[in-house]
Amino acid sequence: MNNNIKVFVTGASGFIGRSLCYALAKRGYLVHALCRNVNHPFLLKHENISFYNGDILDESSLKHGMNGCQFVYHTAAMAKMWCRNNREFYDVNVLGTRNVLKTAMFLNVQKLVYTSTCGVWGPTIKHPMDEYSPRIAGFPIVYERTKFLAELEVNSFVDQGLNIVTVNPSRVFGEGPVTDSNTVSKMIKGYLNGTWRIIPGKGDSVANYAFLDDVVEGHIAAMEYGLKGNRYILGGEDISFNRFFETLFELTGKHLQMLRIPQKMIKMYSQVDWLKTQITGIPPVFLPEFADRLKYDQKYSSAKAIEHLNYKITPFALGMGKTVHYLQNQRICRN
Ligand SMILES: NC(=O)c1ccc[n+]([C@@H]2O[C@H](COP(=O)([O-])OP(=O)(O)OC[C@H]3O[C@@H](n4cnc5c(N)ncnc54)[C@H](OP(=O)(O)O)[C@@H]3O)[C@@H](O)[C@H]2O)c1
Repeated sequence: MNNNIKVFVTGASGFIGRSLCYALAKRGYLVHALCRNVNHPFLLKHENISFYNGDILDESSLKHGMNGCQFVYHTAAMAKMWCRNNREFYDVNVLGTRNVLKTAMFLNVQKLVYTSTCGVWGPTIKHPMDEYSPRIAGFPIVYERTKFLAELEVNSFVDQGLNIVTVNPSRVFGEGPVTDSNTVSKMIKGYLNGTWRIIPGKGDSVANYAFLDDVVEGHIAAMEYGLKGNRYILGGEDISFNRFFETLFELTGKHLQMLRIPQKMIKMYSQVDWLKTQITGIPPVFLPEFADRLKYDQKYSSAKAIEHLNYKITPFALGMGKTVHYLQNQRICRN
């Protein structure tokens, strides 16, 4: 097994990071799990996991947690749609990543896996994007912009000699808490609780959905087999909004009359919503730049990870069934 191999993981209370810590611990790794609150309710406990209180903006806490670790997974990020001050996206995603890489370099870490996103490619038109595709649009979404800037940080540390592999998950869903980053579970929860009744446009725009277990395995395989300086898309099936809700209906028998709202109307709503946020400070429901994104597909190919990392894709309906079961068992949504 992997006894005595110490691994440092950032984002241990996050949707992906918590499952990654647990999967590593089960394999015998000794996990140093960084979190901002060691009593966070989402942390998963295991005898091989030690929690380190810290912040990626605080280099001394990174040094303390990472000390003696051969491997590092950096999953922590500001992965929300919105926060009060956009500067936080830059601080956490760019400067925080720089701190993690700097500390790993200083402590002579053997290898680091950085969790980026398919958002660095963003919208797609006809064909699925792969790791070598250029981005075809600007960067109106601050999360995507700062994750792209973080990849530039990664490139610069690769040039300085640090062994870094980047993984780019698409839209991740699976058995886990409904965090701000976990938009898919929010949609499932809303549908099953009867509060989500909207399908944008004709419902034919497509996004790529990656099952959490696959993404976690993909991270571990990237550490084992990933090549220095390479990126690997960790995705799943390309699924339209129509197919998404049909699958939910087939799995649960729950049929809701869905409203098909034209993208232009969603955009108008989001602009008014944004004005409300500016005046009242109440968080927005949906930002205009996300309304614009609804015009496009987001299709990504995981072929490189399948070939080089032996990455496996769980069929969408199977993953969705497990997710629904989890959310119902946890009483996060109704049966
Ligand atoms: N979920 C997806 O669909 C998806 C898709 C593609 C890529 N990704 C990427 O995958 C990674 C993990 O995403 P996720 O879905 O697990 O996000 P998440 O559930 O929002 O978790 C984010 C994690 O980062 C931590 N964090 C934020 N700021 C921090 C700071 N200053 N210092 C230390 N920790 C900090 C959070 O800690 P607190 O609990 O203390 O806030 C939390 O543990 C991110 O890099 C994200 O960009 C996610």
